[in-house]
Order: sequence, then C-alpha cells, then structure tokens
Amino acid sequence: MNGLRLSCLFALTSFATSTLITAVTGPAFRTPLSRKSVSLTGALVTAKGSEGFYVSGAAVNDTRVSNGLFVFTESSTTLSKVAVGDMITFSGSVDEFRSSADPDYLLLTEIEDPTDIVVVSTKNTVTPVVLGVDLFPPTQKFTALDTGADGFLSVPNNQTQVDTVNATLLPTQYGMDFWQSLNGQLVTVRSPIAINFQNDFGEFFVIGDWPVTGQNSRGGLTITFGPDGIPDGNPESVIIGGPLDGTTNPNVTMGVGLSDITGVVTYEFGYYYILPTTAPTIISNPSFDISPTNLTSSPADLCAITIGSYNVDNMAPQGTHIDDVANHIATVLFTPDIMFIQEVQDNDGPTDDGVVSASLTLSTLIAAIEKASGVTYSSVNIDPVNDADGGEPGGNIRQVYLYLPDRVTLVNGIAGTALEAVEVVGTTGSPALSLNPGRIDPNNTAWTDSRKPLAAQWTTASNDTLFTVNLHLLSKDGSTTVEGNARPPVNLGVSQRTSQVEVVADFVSDIFAKDADANVVVGGDCNEFLQARSVFASLTPLMTDLDTVAGIPAVEQYSYVFDNTAEELDHLFLSPAMVARGAEAQHIHVNNWAASLEVRVSDHDPTVSLVRVC
Ligand SMILES: *[C@@H]1O[C@H](CO)[C@@H](O)[C@H](O)[C@H]1NC(C)=O
Ligand SMILES: *[C@@H]1O[C@H](CO)[C@@H](O)[C@H](O)[C@H]1NC(C)=O
Ligand SMILES: *[C@@H]1O[C@H](CO)[C@@H](O)[C@H](O)[C@H]1NC(C)=O
Ligand SMILES: *[C@@H]1O[C@H](CO)[C@@H](O)[C@H](O)[C@H]1NC(C)=O
Ligand SMILES: *[C@@H]1O[C@H](CO)[C@@H](O)[C@H](O)[C@H]1NC(C)=O
Ligand SMILES: *[C@@H]1O[C@H](CO)[C@@H](O)[C@H](O)[C@H]1NC(C)=O
Ligand SMILES: *[C@@H]1O[C@H](CO)[C@@H](O)[C@H](O)[C@H]1NC(C)=O
Repeated sequence: MNGLRLSCLFALTSFATSTLITAVTGPAFRTPLSRKSVSLTGALVTAKGSEGFYVSGAAVNDTRVSNGLFVFTESSTTLSKVAVGDMITFSGSVDEFRSSADPDYLLLTEIEDPTDIVVVSTKNTVTPVVLGVDLFPPTQKFTALDTGADGFLSVPNNQTQVDTVNATLLPTQYGMDFWQSLNGQLVTVRSPIAINFQNDFGEFFVIGDWPVTGQNSRGGLTITFGPDGIPDGNPESVIIGGPLDGTTNPNVTMGVGLSDITGVVTYEFGYYYILPTTAPTIISNPSFDISPTNLTSSPADLCAITIGSYNVDNMAPQGTHIDDVANHIATVLFTPDIMFIQEVQDNDGPTDDGVVSASLTLSTLIAAIEKASGVTYSSVNIDPVNDADGGEPGGNIRQVYLYLPDRVTLVNGIAGTALEAVEVVGTTGSPALSLNPGRIDPNNTAWTDSRKPLAAQWTTASNDTLFTVNLHLLSKDGSTTVEGNARPPVNLGVSQRTSQVEVVADFVSDIFAKDADANVVVGGDCNEFLQARSVFASLTPLMTDLDTVAGIPAVEQYSYVFDNTAEELDHLFLSPAMVARGAEAQHIHVNNWAASLEVRVSDHDPTVSLVRVC
C-alpha cells in the first residue's frame, strides 16, 4: 500500500511540474504563461525550419485552444537533436514575440531557448489538420472588435487593439480567432488557388478547397457586403510564406492553381501565415488573353458616349511605359471619347527640379496612341504647384482628360490655374463653369498634399452639355493590415478622403441646384472602396456608382488587387438624369490578370463605360 501511495505521489509531482502545450496556448489571443519557464512532455515534432521547430501535443476538448506551438532556436546543434516524427520532452520559456517593433503586429506565443531535449520515440505519424475537411475558416469578419456599420472599414479606426483586449477566441465566427486557434499547428490546404501576385518576398495569398464568399470569375476574392449588410473582408484567405525547407515558392497570379500545401500556421508582419514545409508547384494557369472592350460609340448614336478611366501609374515621357499605356488605350479600350487619366507625371518624371508642365508627357502619349490606333486625342489638364499635390516626389502627378474633338468639345472659357477655384455659374436650367477646366476649392485643407479635382464642361456631338470631375483622392499608403492589432484597422487618410468627397459633393450640388437634370460624371481613382460607406456618404445621395447602374455583379466590381482582396478603388458616379438612361461598364483586367508582375503596366485596371447624355 505504501509503495502504491508513494508512486501516486511521484506521478502527481511530475504532472504538476510539466506543462501541456494547450496550457501554453490557452483559449485567448495571449498566453496565460508569458515569461514562465515550462517543461513540456508529449510533444510531437511536426515541422522544422532554420529558426526552430513546431510541436503538437494532445488536443483538449476546446476548439479555441491550439495544440500546436513554435519552438524558437537558431542553434543548429539544438535543431539537429530533433526530427519530424520525434516525440520529445523539453524545457524552455514562454515568450510573446513580435515580428518587428511595429505595434500593429500581433504577439506570437512561442517557446524560446529549448533545453533538456529528450527524444522519447521516433518516426511517429504526423497528421495535419485538413482545412475544408476538419475545420472551416469563417468567411466574413476578422474579429468581434470591428464594431461599426462598415465592419472592418468602420471609422473611427484603431479604437481597440487585439493584444490589449486579449479576447477569448470565437473561431467559428471570426477569421483572426480561427487562425489564432490553429497557431503553431500543422495544416493542409487542398487545391489552393492563388488570389494575387506574389509579394517582394515570394509570399502569396491563397484560398483552399473550402467554402468562400466574394469569389470572382478569375478565382480571387472581392470585397463585398455580407448577408447582414456589413462588409466582407475575406478572412478565409491566408498568406503562404517562405517554405521551411528553404525551397523557393513559384511566382503566381490570381487564379493560378497549386499543388496541396502542408505547413504550419504562424503570425508575422500583420497576417496569419501558413509556412509550407516545402514549396508548392503550379498545376494550372488561367488564360492570359485579355478580351478588349466591346463598348464603343458610333456616329449613328450621338447621345451615347464612351468614357474611360485609367490610373497609369506614374507615367513619365521617358521609357517604354508610356507606349504600353498607349497600347492599352488604343487596342484594349478602343479609344473612348473621353479618358479620365490619373498619375500623369511632369515632363522630367520624378526629377525634382521645379518642372511642373506635362506637355511632353501628353504629346508623347497622344503620339503613341495615334501610332497604335490612328486616332488623335486632344488633352487638357492644369499644372499643379510644384511638389504640392503628393505622389512620387518631383513627379507632380495630375489628372488629365484626353478627348476626341469630333465627339466632345471643351466649352470655350478661361482655363484655371493651380490655385484658382472653379465655381458653378450660369442661370437656372443652364449651369456653367467659371473656369474651364478648373480645380475645385484648391486651397481647402482637404486637398493638402493631394490632387485637386479637375472639373470640365463639355459640349457633346449631340449638342448636350456634360460636366465631368476627374478625381485622384489621397492614397491609403501606411494603412495597417486587415489582420493587424489596431481594430478597426487604420485606414490612413480616411478622414481626409471623406472631406475630399464632401468638397466634391458640394460642387456637384451647385450644378444640380441650377439643373437637376444635368449630365455629370464624377470619378477616377478614389483610393477607397464603396464598402467604406462613410467616405462616400455625402456623394451617394446625389449620384450613383456606375457599376451599380451597369449591373456589374458585386464580385466582379474590382479594379485593383491588394494583399488578399480584389477591390474597387476606381469609380465613376453618374448624375440622376444619366442613371435614368442606363449605362454599360467594364473593368478590363489588363493588369491584374497579367501573366506576371513584370508585364503589368499599372497596378490599376482601366474601366470603360458607355453612358447617355440624351
Ligand atoms: C489573456 O487571456 C488569457 C485567457 O483568459 C489569460 O489567461 C491571460 O493571462 C491573458 N493575458 C493577458 C496578457 O492579458
Ligand atoms: C466536449 O465538450 C462538449 C461541450 O463543452 C461536450 O458536450 C462534449 O461531451 C465533450 N466531449 C468530450 C469527448 O469530452
Ligand atoms: C493605435 O493605437 C494604439 C494605442 O493608442 C497606438 O499605440 C498605436 O500606435 C496606434 N496605431 C496606429 C497605426 O496608429
Ligand atoms: C519571381 O519573380 C521575381 C521578379 O519579380 C524574380 O526575381 C524571381 O526569380 C522569380 N521567382 C521565380 C521562382 O521564378
Ligand atoms: C458586350 O459584351 C457583353 C458580354 O460580354 C454583352 O453582355 C454586352 O451586351 C455587350 N455590349 C455591347 C454594347 O455589345
Ligand atoms: C489660394 O491661396 C493662394 C495663396 O496661397 C492665393 O493666391 C489664392 O488666391 C487662393 N485661391 C483661392 C481660390 O482662394
Ligand atoms: C449642334 O449645334 C451646331 C451649331 O448650332 C449645329 O451646327 C449642329 O447641327 C448641331 N448638332 C446636332 C446633332 O444637333
């Protein structure tokens, strides 16, 4: 009897000093055992890389708690002690690691400085969790912390931080909670499809063989609204990082099919990752043939005009970029009657020497379009104040109209300069612009370090009046990631973009005050998704988004692909009279469906529309 008691006591003692992996990971975002020294038993080595190894322990009956864990060590001696399939015991300290000093990146629970490694048995079977069979990622929301009508796009931003709130996980409801509940675990993604190009580090976002929402015809995921009316940010996607065995990932594009990926879930640089044990291979490619638009205007129907919009990505006269842009306008967009162009640089491109004129850039573009199509455009723009409108330093990017004088003529008037404000003048029923073209309220702080809107008044071949406003709103550069610490994520510049839209809405209200049936088209690169409804709230009661008028399916409404989502940054809004006459529109994915990043001409896709002015 005594002997038995004694052995029970020993068993209890050794149980009390050893820790389960699930006790380290816990049911929340943060570990309950930060900075504690622990002894882990029953740890199966599931994967190994150059910076450590991954272990998995017995699961608990709680889907919030991961039974996988990363063990950090760069010591080759330590790493050589373990092999995949080994059952081990070891000691170490629990650390919460950030992949850079950036507080927007979440803490990753890991064991550092493993010691006392004892291999208990070898060649044990390692069984990954099969995503889409064993578990399914949530498809709409990232975290419960994204409160607000616009979900992860709600303002104000950064009201709470994931690490500070340390919520217990709700892995069936929220994407970040789901991936966190698998942190450190070995998982398999069956039949992955790439949903963007690779990034500078050869990493790329995928979805696997599981239910997704927002999937477009190419295979990528578009930002849409969920069934509850809240934006859907596609948390069911995941980024594939550098392979653990040092092999190199293939370069991909949206719609590329890959061999199955088995890897470990981790968190770094603002995203939940899967680090594959080895690089996947490409097993299918989408077609890289791009159909040109079928929206063209005709002398037989003077009421219908084609309007295109294209952010041409820092187009300067030097180099071959301008020819590529010209070819798109000539042979894919078929020379629309009016082109709203954004990101035209001055005559010496990014050289920062006070030059602001873009006359050479535009004559070079027009000559190249003429060579490729036989069609000769006229152009109009207003030079900005040197270095006052943001963008690449010295580039003096601006919006430009290209137009076909046999289809539309610029109404005679005085052209505005950089700091003159265009006003709506004229009489009831017949509004006009005080300057043509003119910049709207250029001294308003809404436009600080940003492009002022370029307004113009046209007469169409049908003798109708058309007003246009070409926009290039403040960029989102510097925003935090959708799986970052700040909730809702920081959408940099959102309040300034909101003010910019308000200034534009005031201007078009002045037109509608004189003529509620005026033909007005406003848009360009708005650097914002319509799902960020608060940004457009001043304009949407006055005008309607072209894609809606044209009936483009929600999943096909994109002109840009960033990280895990296809999204629409480029919009054209139509006045009520034009909405009533209907419109057609196409986003021509000449860039985001390109065969590689190298052959892409711009990061934005152009849009072509056929609208009616009478
Ligand atoms: C996070 O939450 C878990 C579970 O409630 C708790 O054990 C842990 O101590 C918390 N950590 C921090 C830093 O709040
Ligand atoms: C797991 O927990 C659930 C509820 O928490 C319970 O209904 C179920 O019986 C448990 N299963 C096992 C195997 O303990
Ligand atoms: C978000 O807010 C936290 C707490 O106020 C702050 O430390 C952090 O810098 C903010 N993040 C960004 C990107 O502004
Ligand atoms: C992927 O493309 C980059 C250039 O963007 C190139 O440097 C790299 O070698 C390519 N990788 C592969 C695997 O082809
Ligand atoms: C353009 O093609 C689409 C199908 O791709 C068709 O639905 C539409 O009617 C066509 N429009 C014109 C003006 O031909
Ligand atoms: C904008 O400010 C400049 C001085 O910086 C001034 O010359 C110009 O007249 C102002 N424009 C308007 C429309 O008030
Ligand atoms: C437009 O007005 C001009 C000048 O008044 C006239 O010559 C032309 O025939 C008109 N065009 C149409 C389509 O009515």
